[in-house]
Amino acid sequence: MTPDQFNFLRAFLKEHSGLVLGEDKRYLLDSRLNPVAKQFNHASLSDMVVALKRPGAQKLSDAIIEAMTINESFFFRDMTPFDNFRNIMLPHMLKERATSRKLRIWSAAASTGQEGYSLAIELLEQKSKMSGWRTEILGTDLSTEALAKARAGAYTQFEVQRGMPSNLLMKYFKQQGAEWMVAPAVKSMVTYKPFNLLKEFRSLGQFDIVFCRNVLIYFDRETKADILQRMAKQMAPDGYLVLGAAETIIGLSDAYKMVPGVRGLYQRSADKAAIPAKAKTTAAASDRWKAKKATAIPAVKPRTARPLRAVASSSRTNLFAKNR
Ligand SMILES: C[S@@+](CC[C@H](N)C(=O)[O-])C[C@H]1O[C@@H](n2cnc3c(N)ncnc32)[C@H](O)[C@@H]1O
Repeated sequence: MTPDQFNFLRAFLKEHSGLVLGEDKRYLLDSRLNPVAKQFNHASLSDMVVALKRPGAQKLSDAIIEAMTINESFFFRDMTPFDNFRNIMLPHMLKERATSRKLRIWSAAASTGQEGYSLAIELLEQKSKMSGWRTEILGTDLSTEALAKARAGAYTQFEVQRGMPSNLLMKYFKQQGAEWMVAPAVKSMVTYKPFNLLKEFRSLGQFDIVFCRNVLIYFDRETKADILQRMAKQMAPDGYLVLGAAETIIGLSDAYKMVPGVRGLYQRSADKAAIPAKAKTTAAASDRWKAKKATAIPAVKPRTARPLRAVASSSRTNLFAKNR
């Protein structure tokens, strides 16, 4: 591959997926795209780039973008965001949405589904407090292969050992041969759909909580700032944003304020993010979405309320702790 072709591929990826590859990442292109070249019967990456430049190369283009996505994920990743979800975000929403009893959550780089299912499990663990609530978890990702796995909800022993506490594994998964299947009650709470974060967000409607973790790290400053700014417009005025451990809004967006003392958790700053006028398209999309997917949490017999701390991660049995 010539330097021009390398630069063409870098520009192509940045434009279509946001991925920014440094000059030193040529090895990554080689290792990930050689199999694509082979699959499309090109003798070399050079030949593949020539083909990519021809009109009508959509399938090749999609395959290249797909091959470059990094889908690393695991259940209850980094744990703290899920502790914050349980101990800060949910109590806030339970209080503030007590009348509407509706909650919309977006897992904005859902990958293979572990984040969305972890959130669903957290909600089910709180169901005694959420009787009659309608909750929606939308998981979106650029990678259709990752989403297919998310929808299947089938994970290997290794994948469940990476983060799923054993008591929750027993409660919300069923072993089938070598795989662990997410229970239907969990699966039905999450919808996965393809979506590129570089595209317009309005069709997705408004969210109360957005998990956008471990994806902005792959983008340049301008792209991160743009995504964060547009995301704020899709959030409720008191909506929460959760970023990955290596990500921040600092220096990128003034549309959020940090939740004091809580690293990686932000709340929309109502004055800075322009609240979208209840545009018909947004409302209509949101209504369609609600009609299609809202999961009513069934009324349950109230059980002895556990103090919030009592369900914190540290108190969970986790036979797999050494793997986390
Ligand atoms: C490292 S995974 C993070 C998964 C999960 N959020 C977590 O923290 O475990 C990053 C995901 O971002 C997705 N991604 C990359 N670029 C994207 C884009 N432009 N739009 C939507 N998703 C994208 C990738 O396909 C990948 O599944």
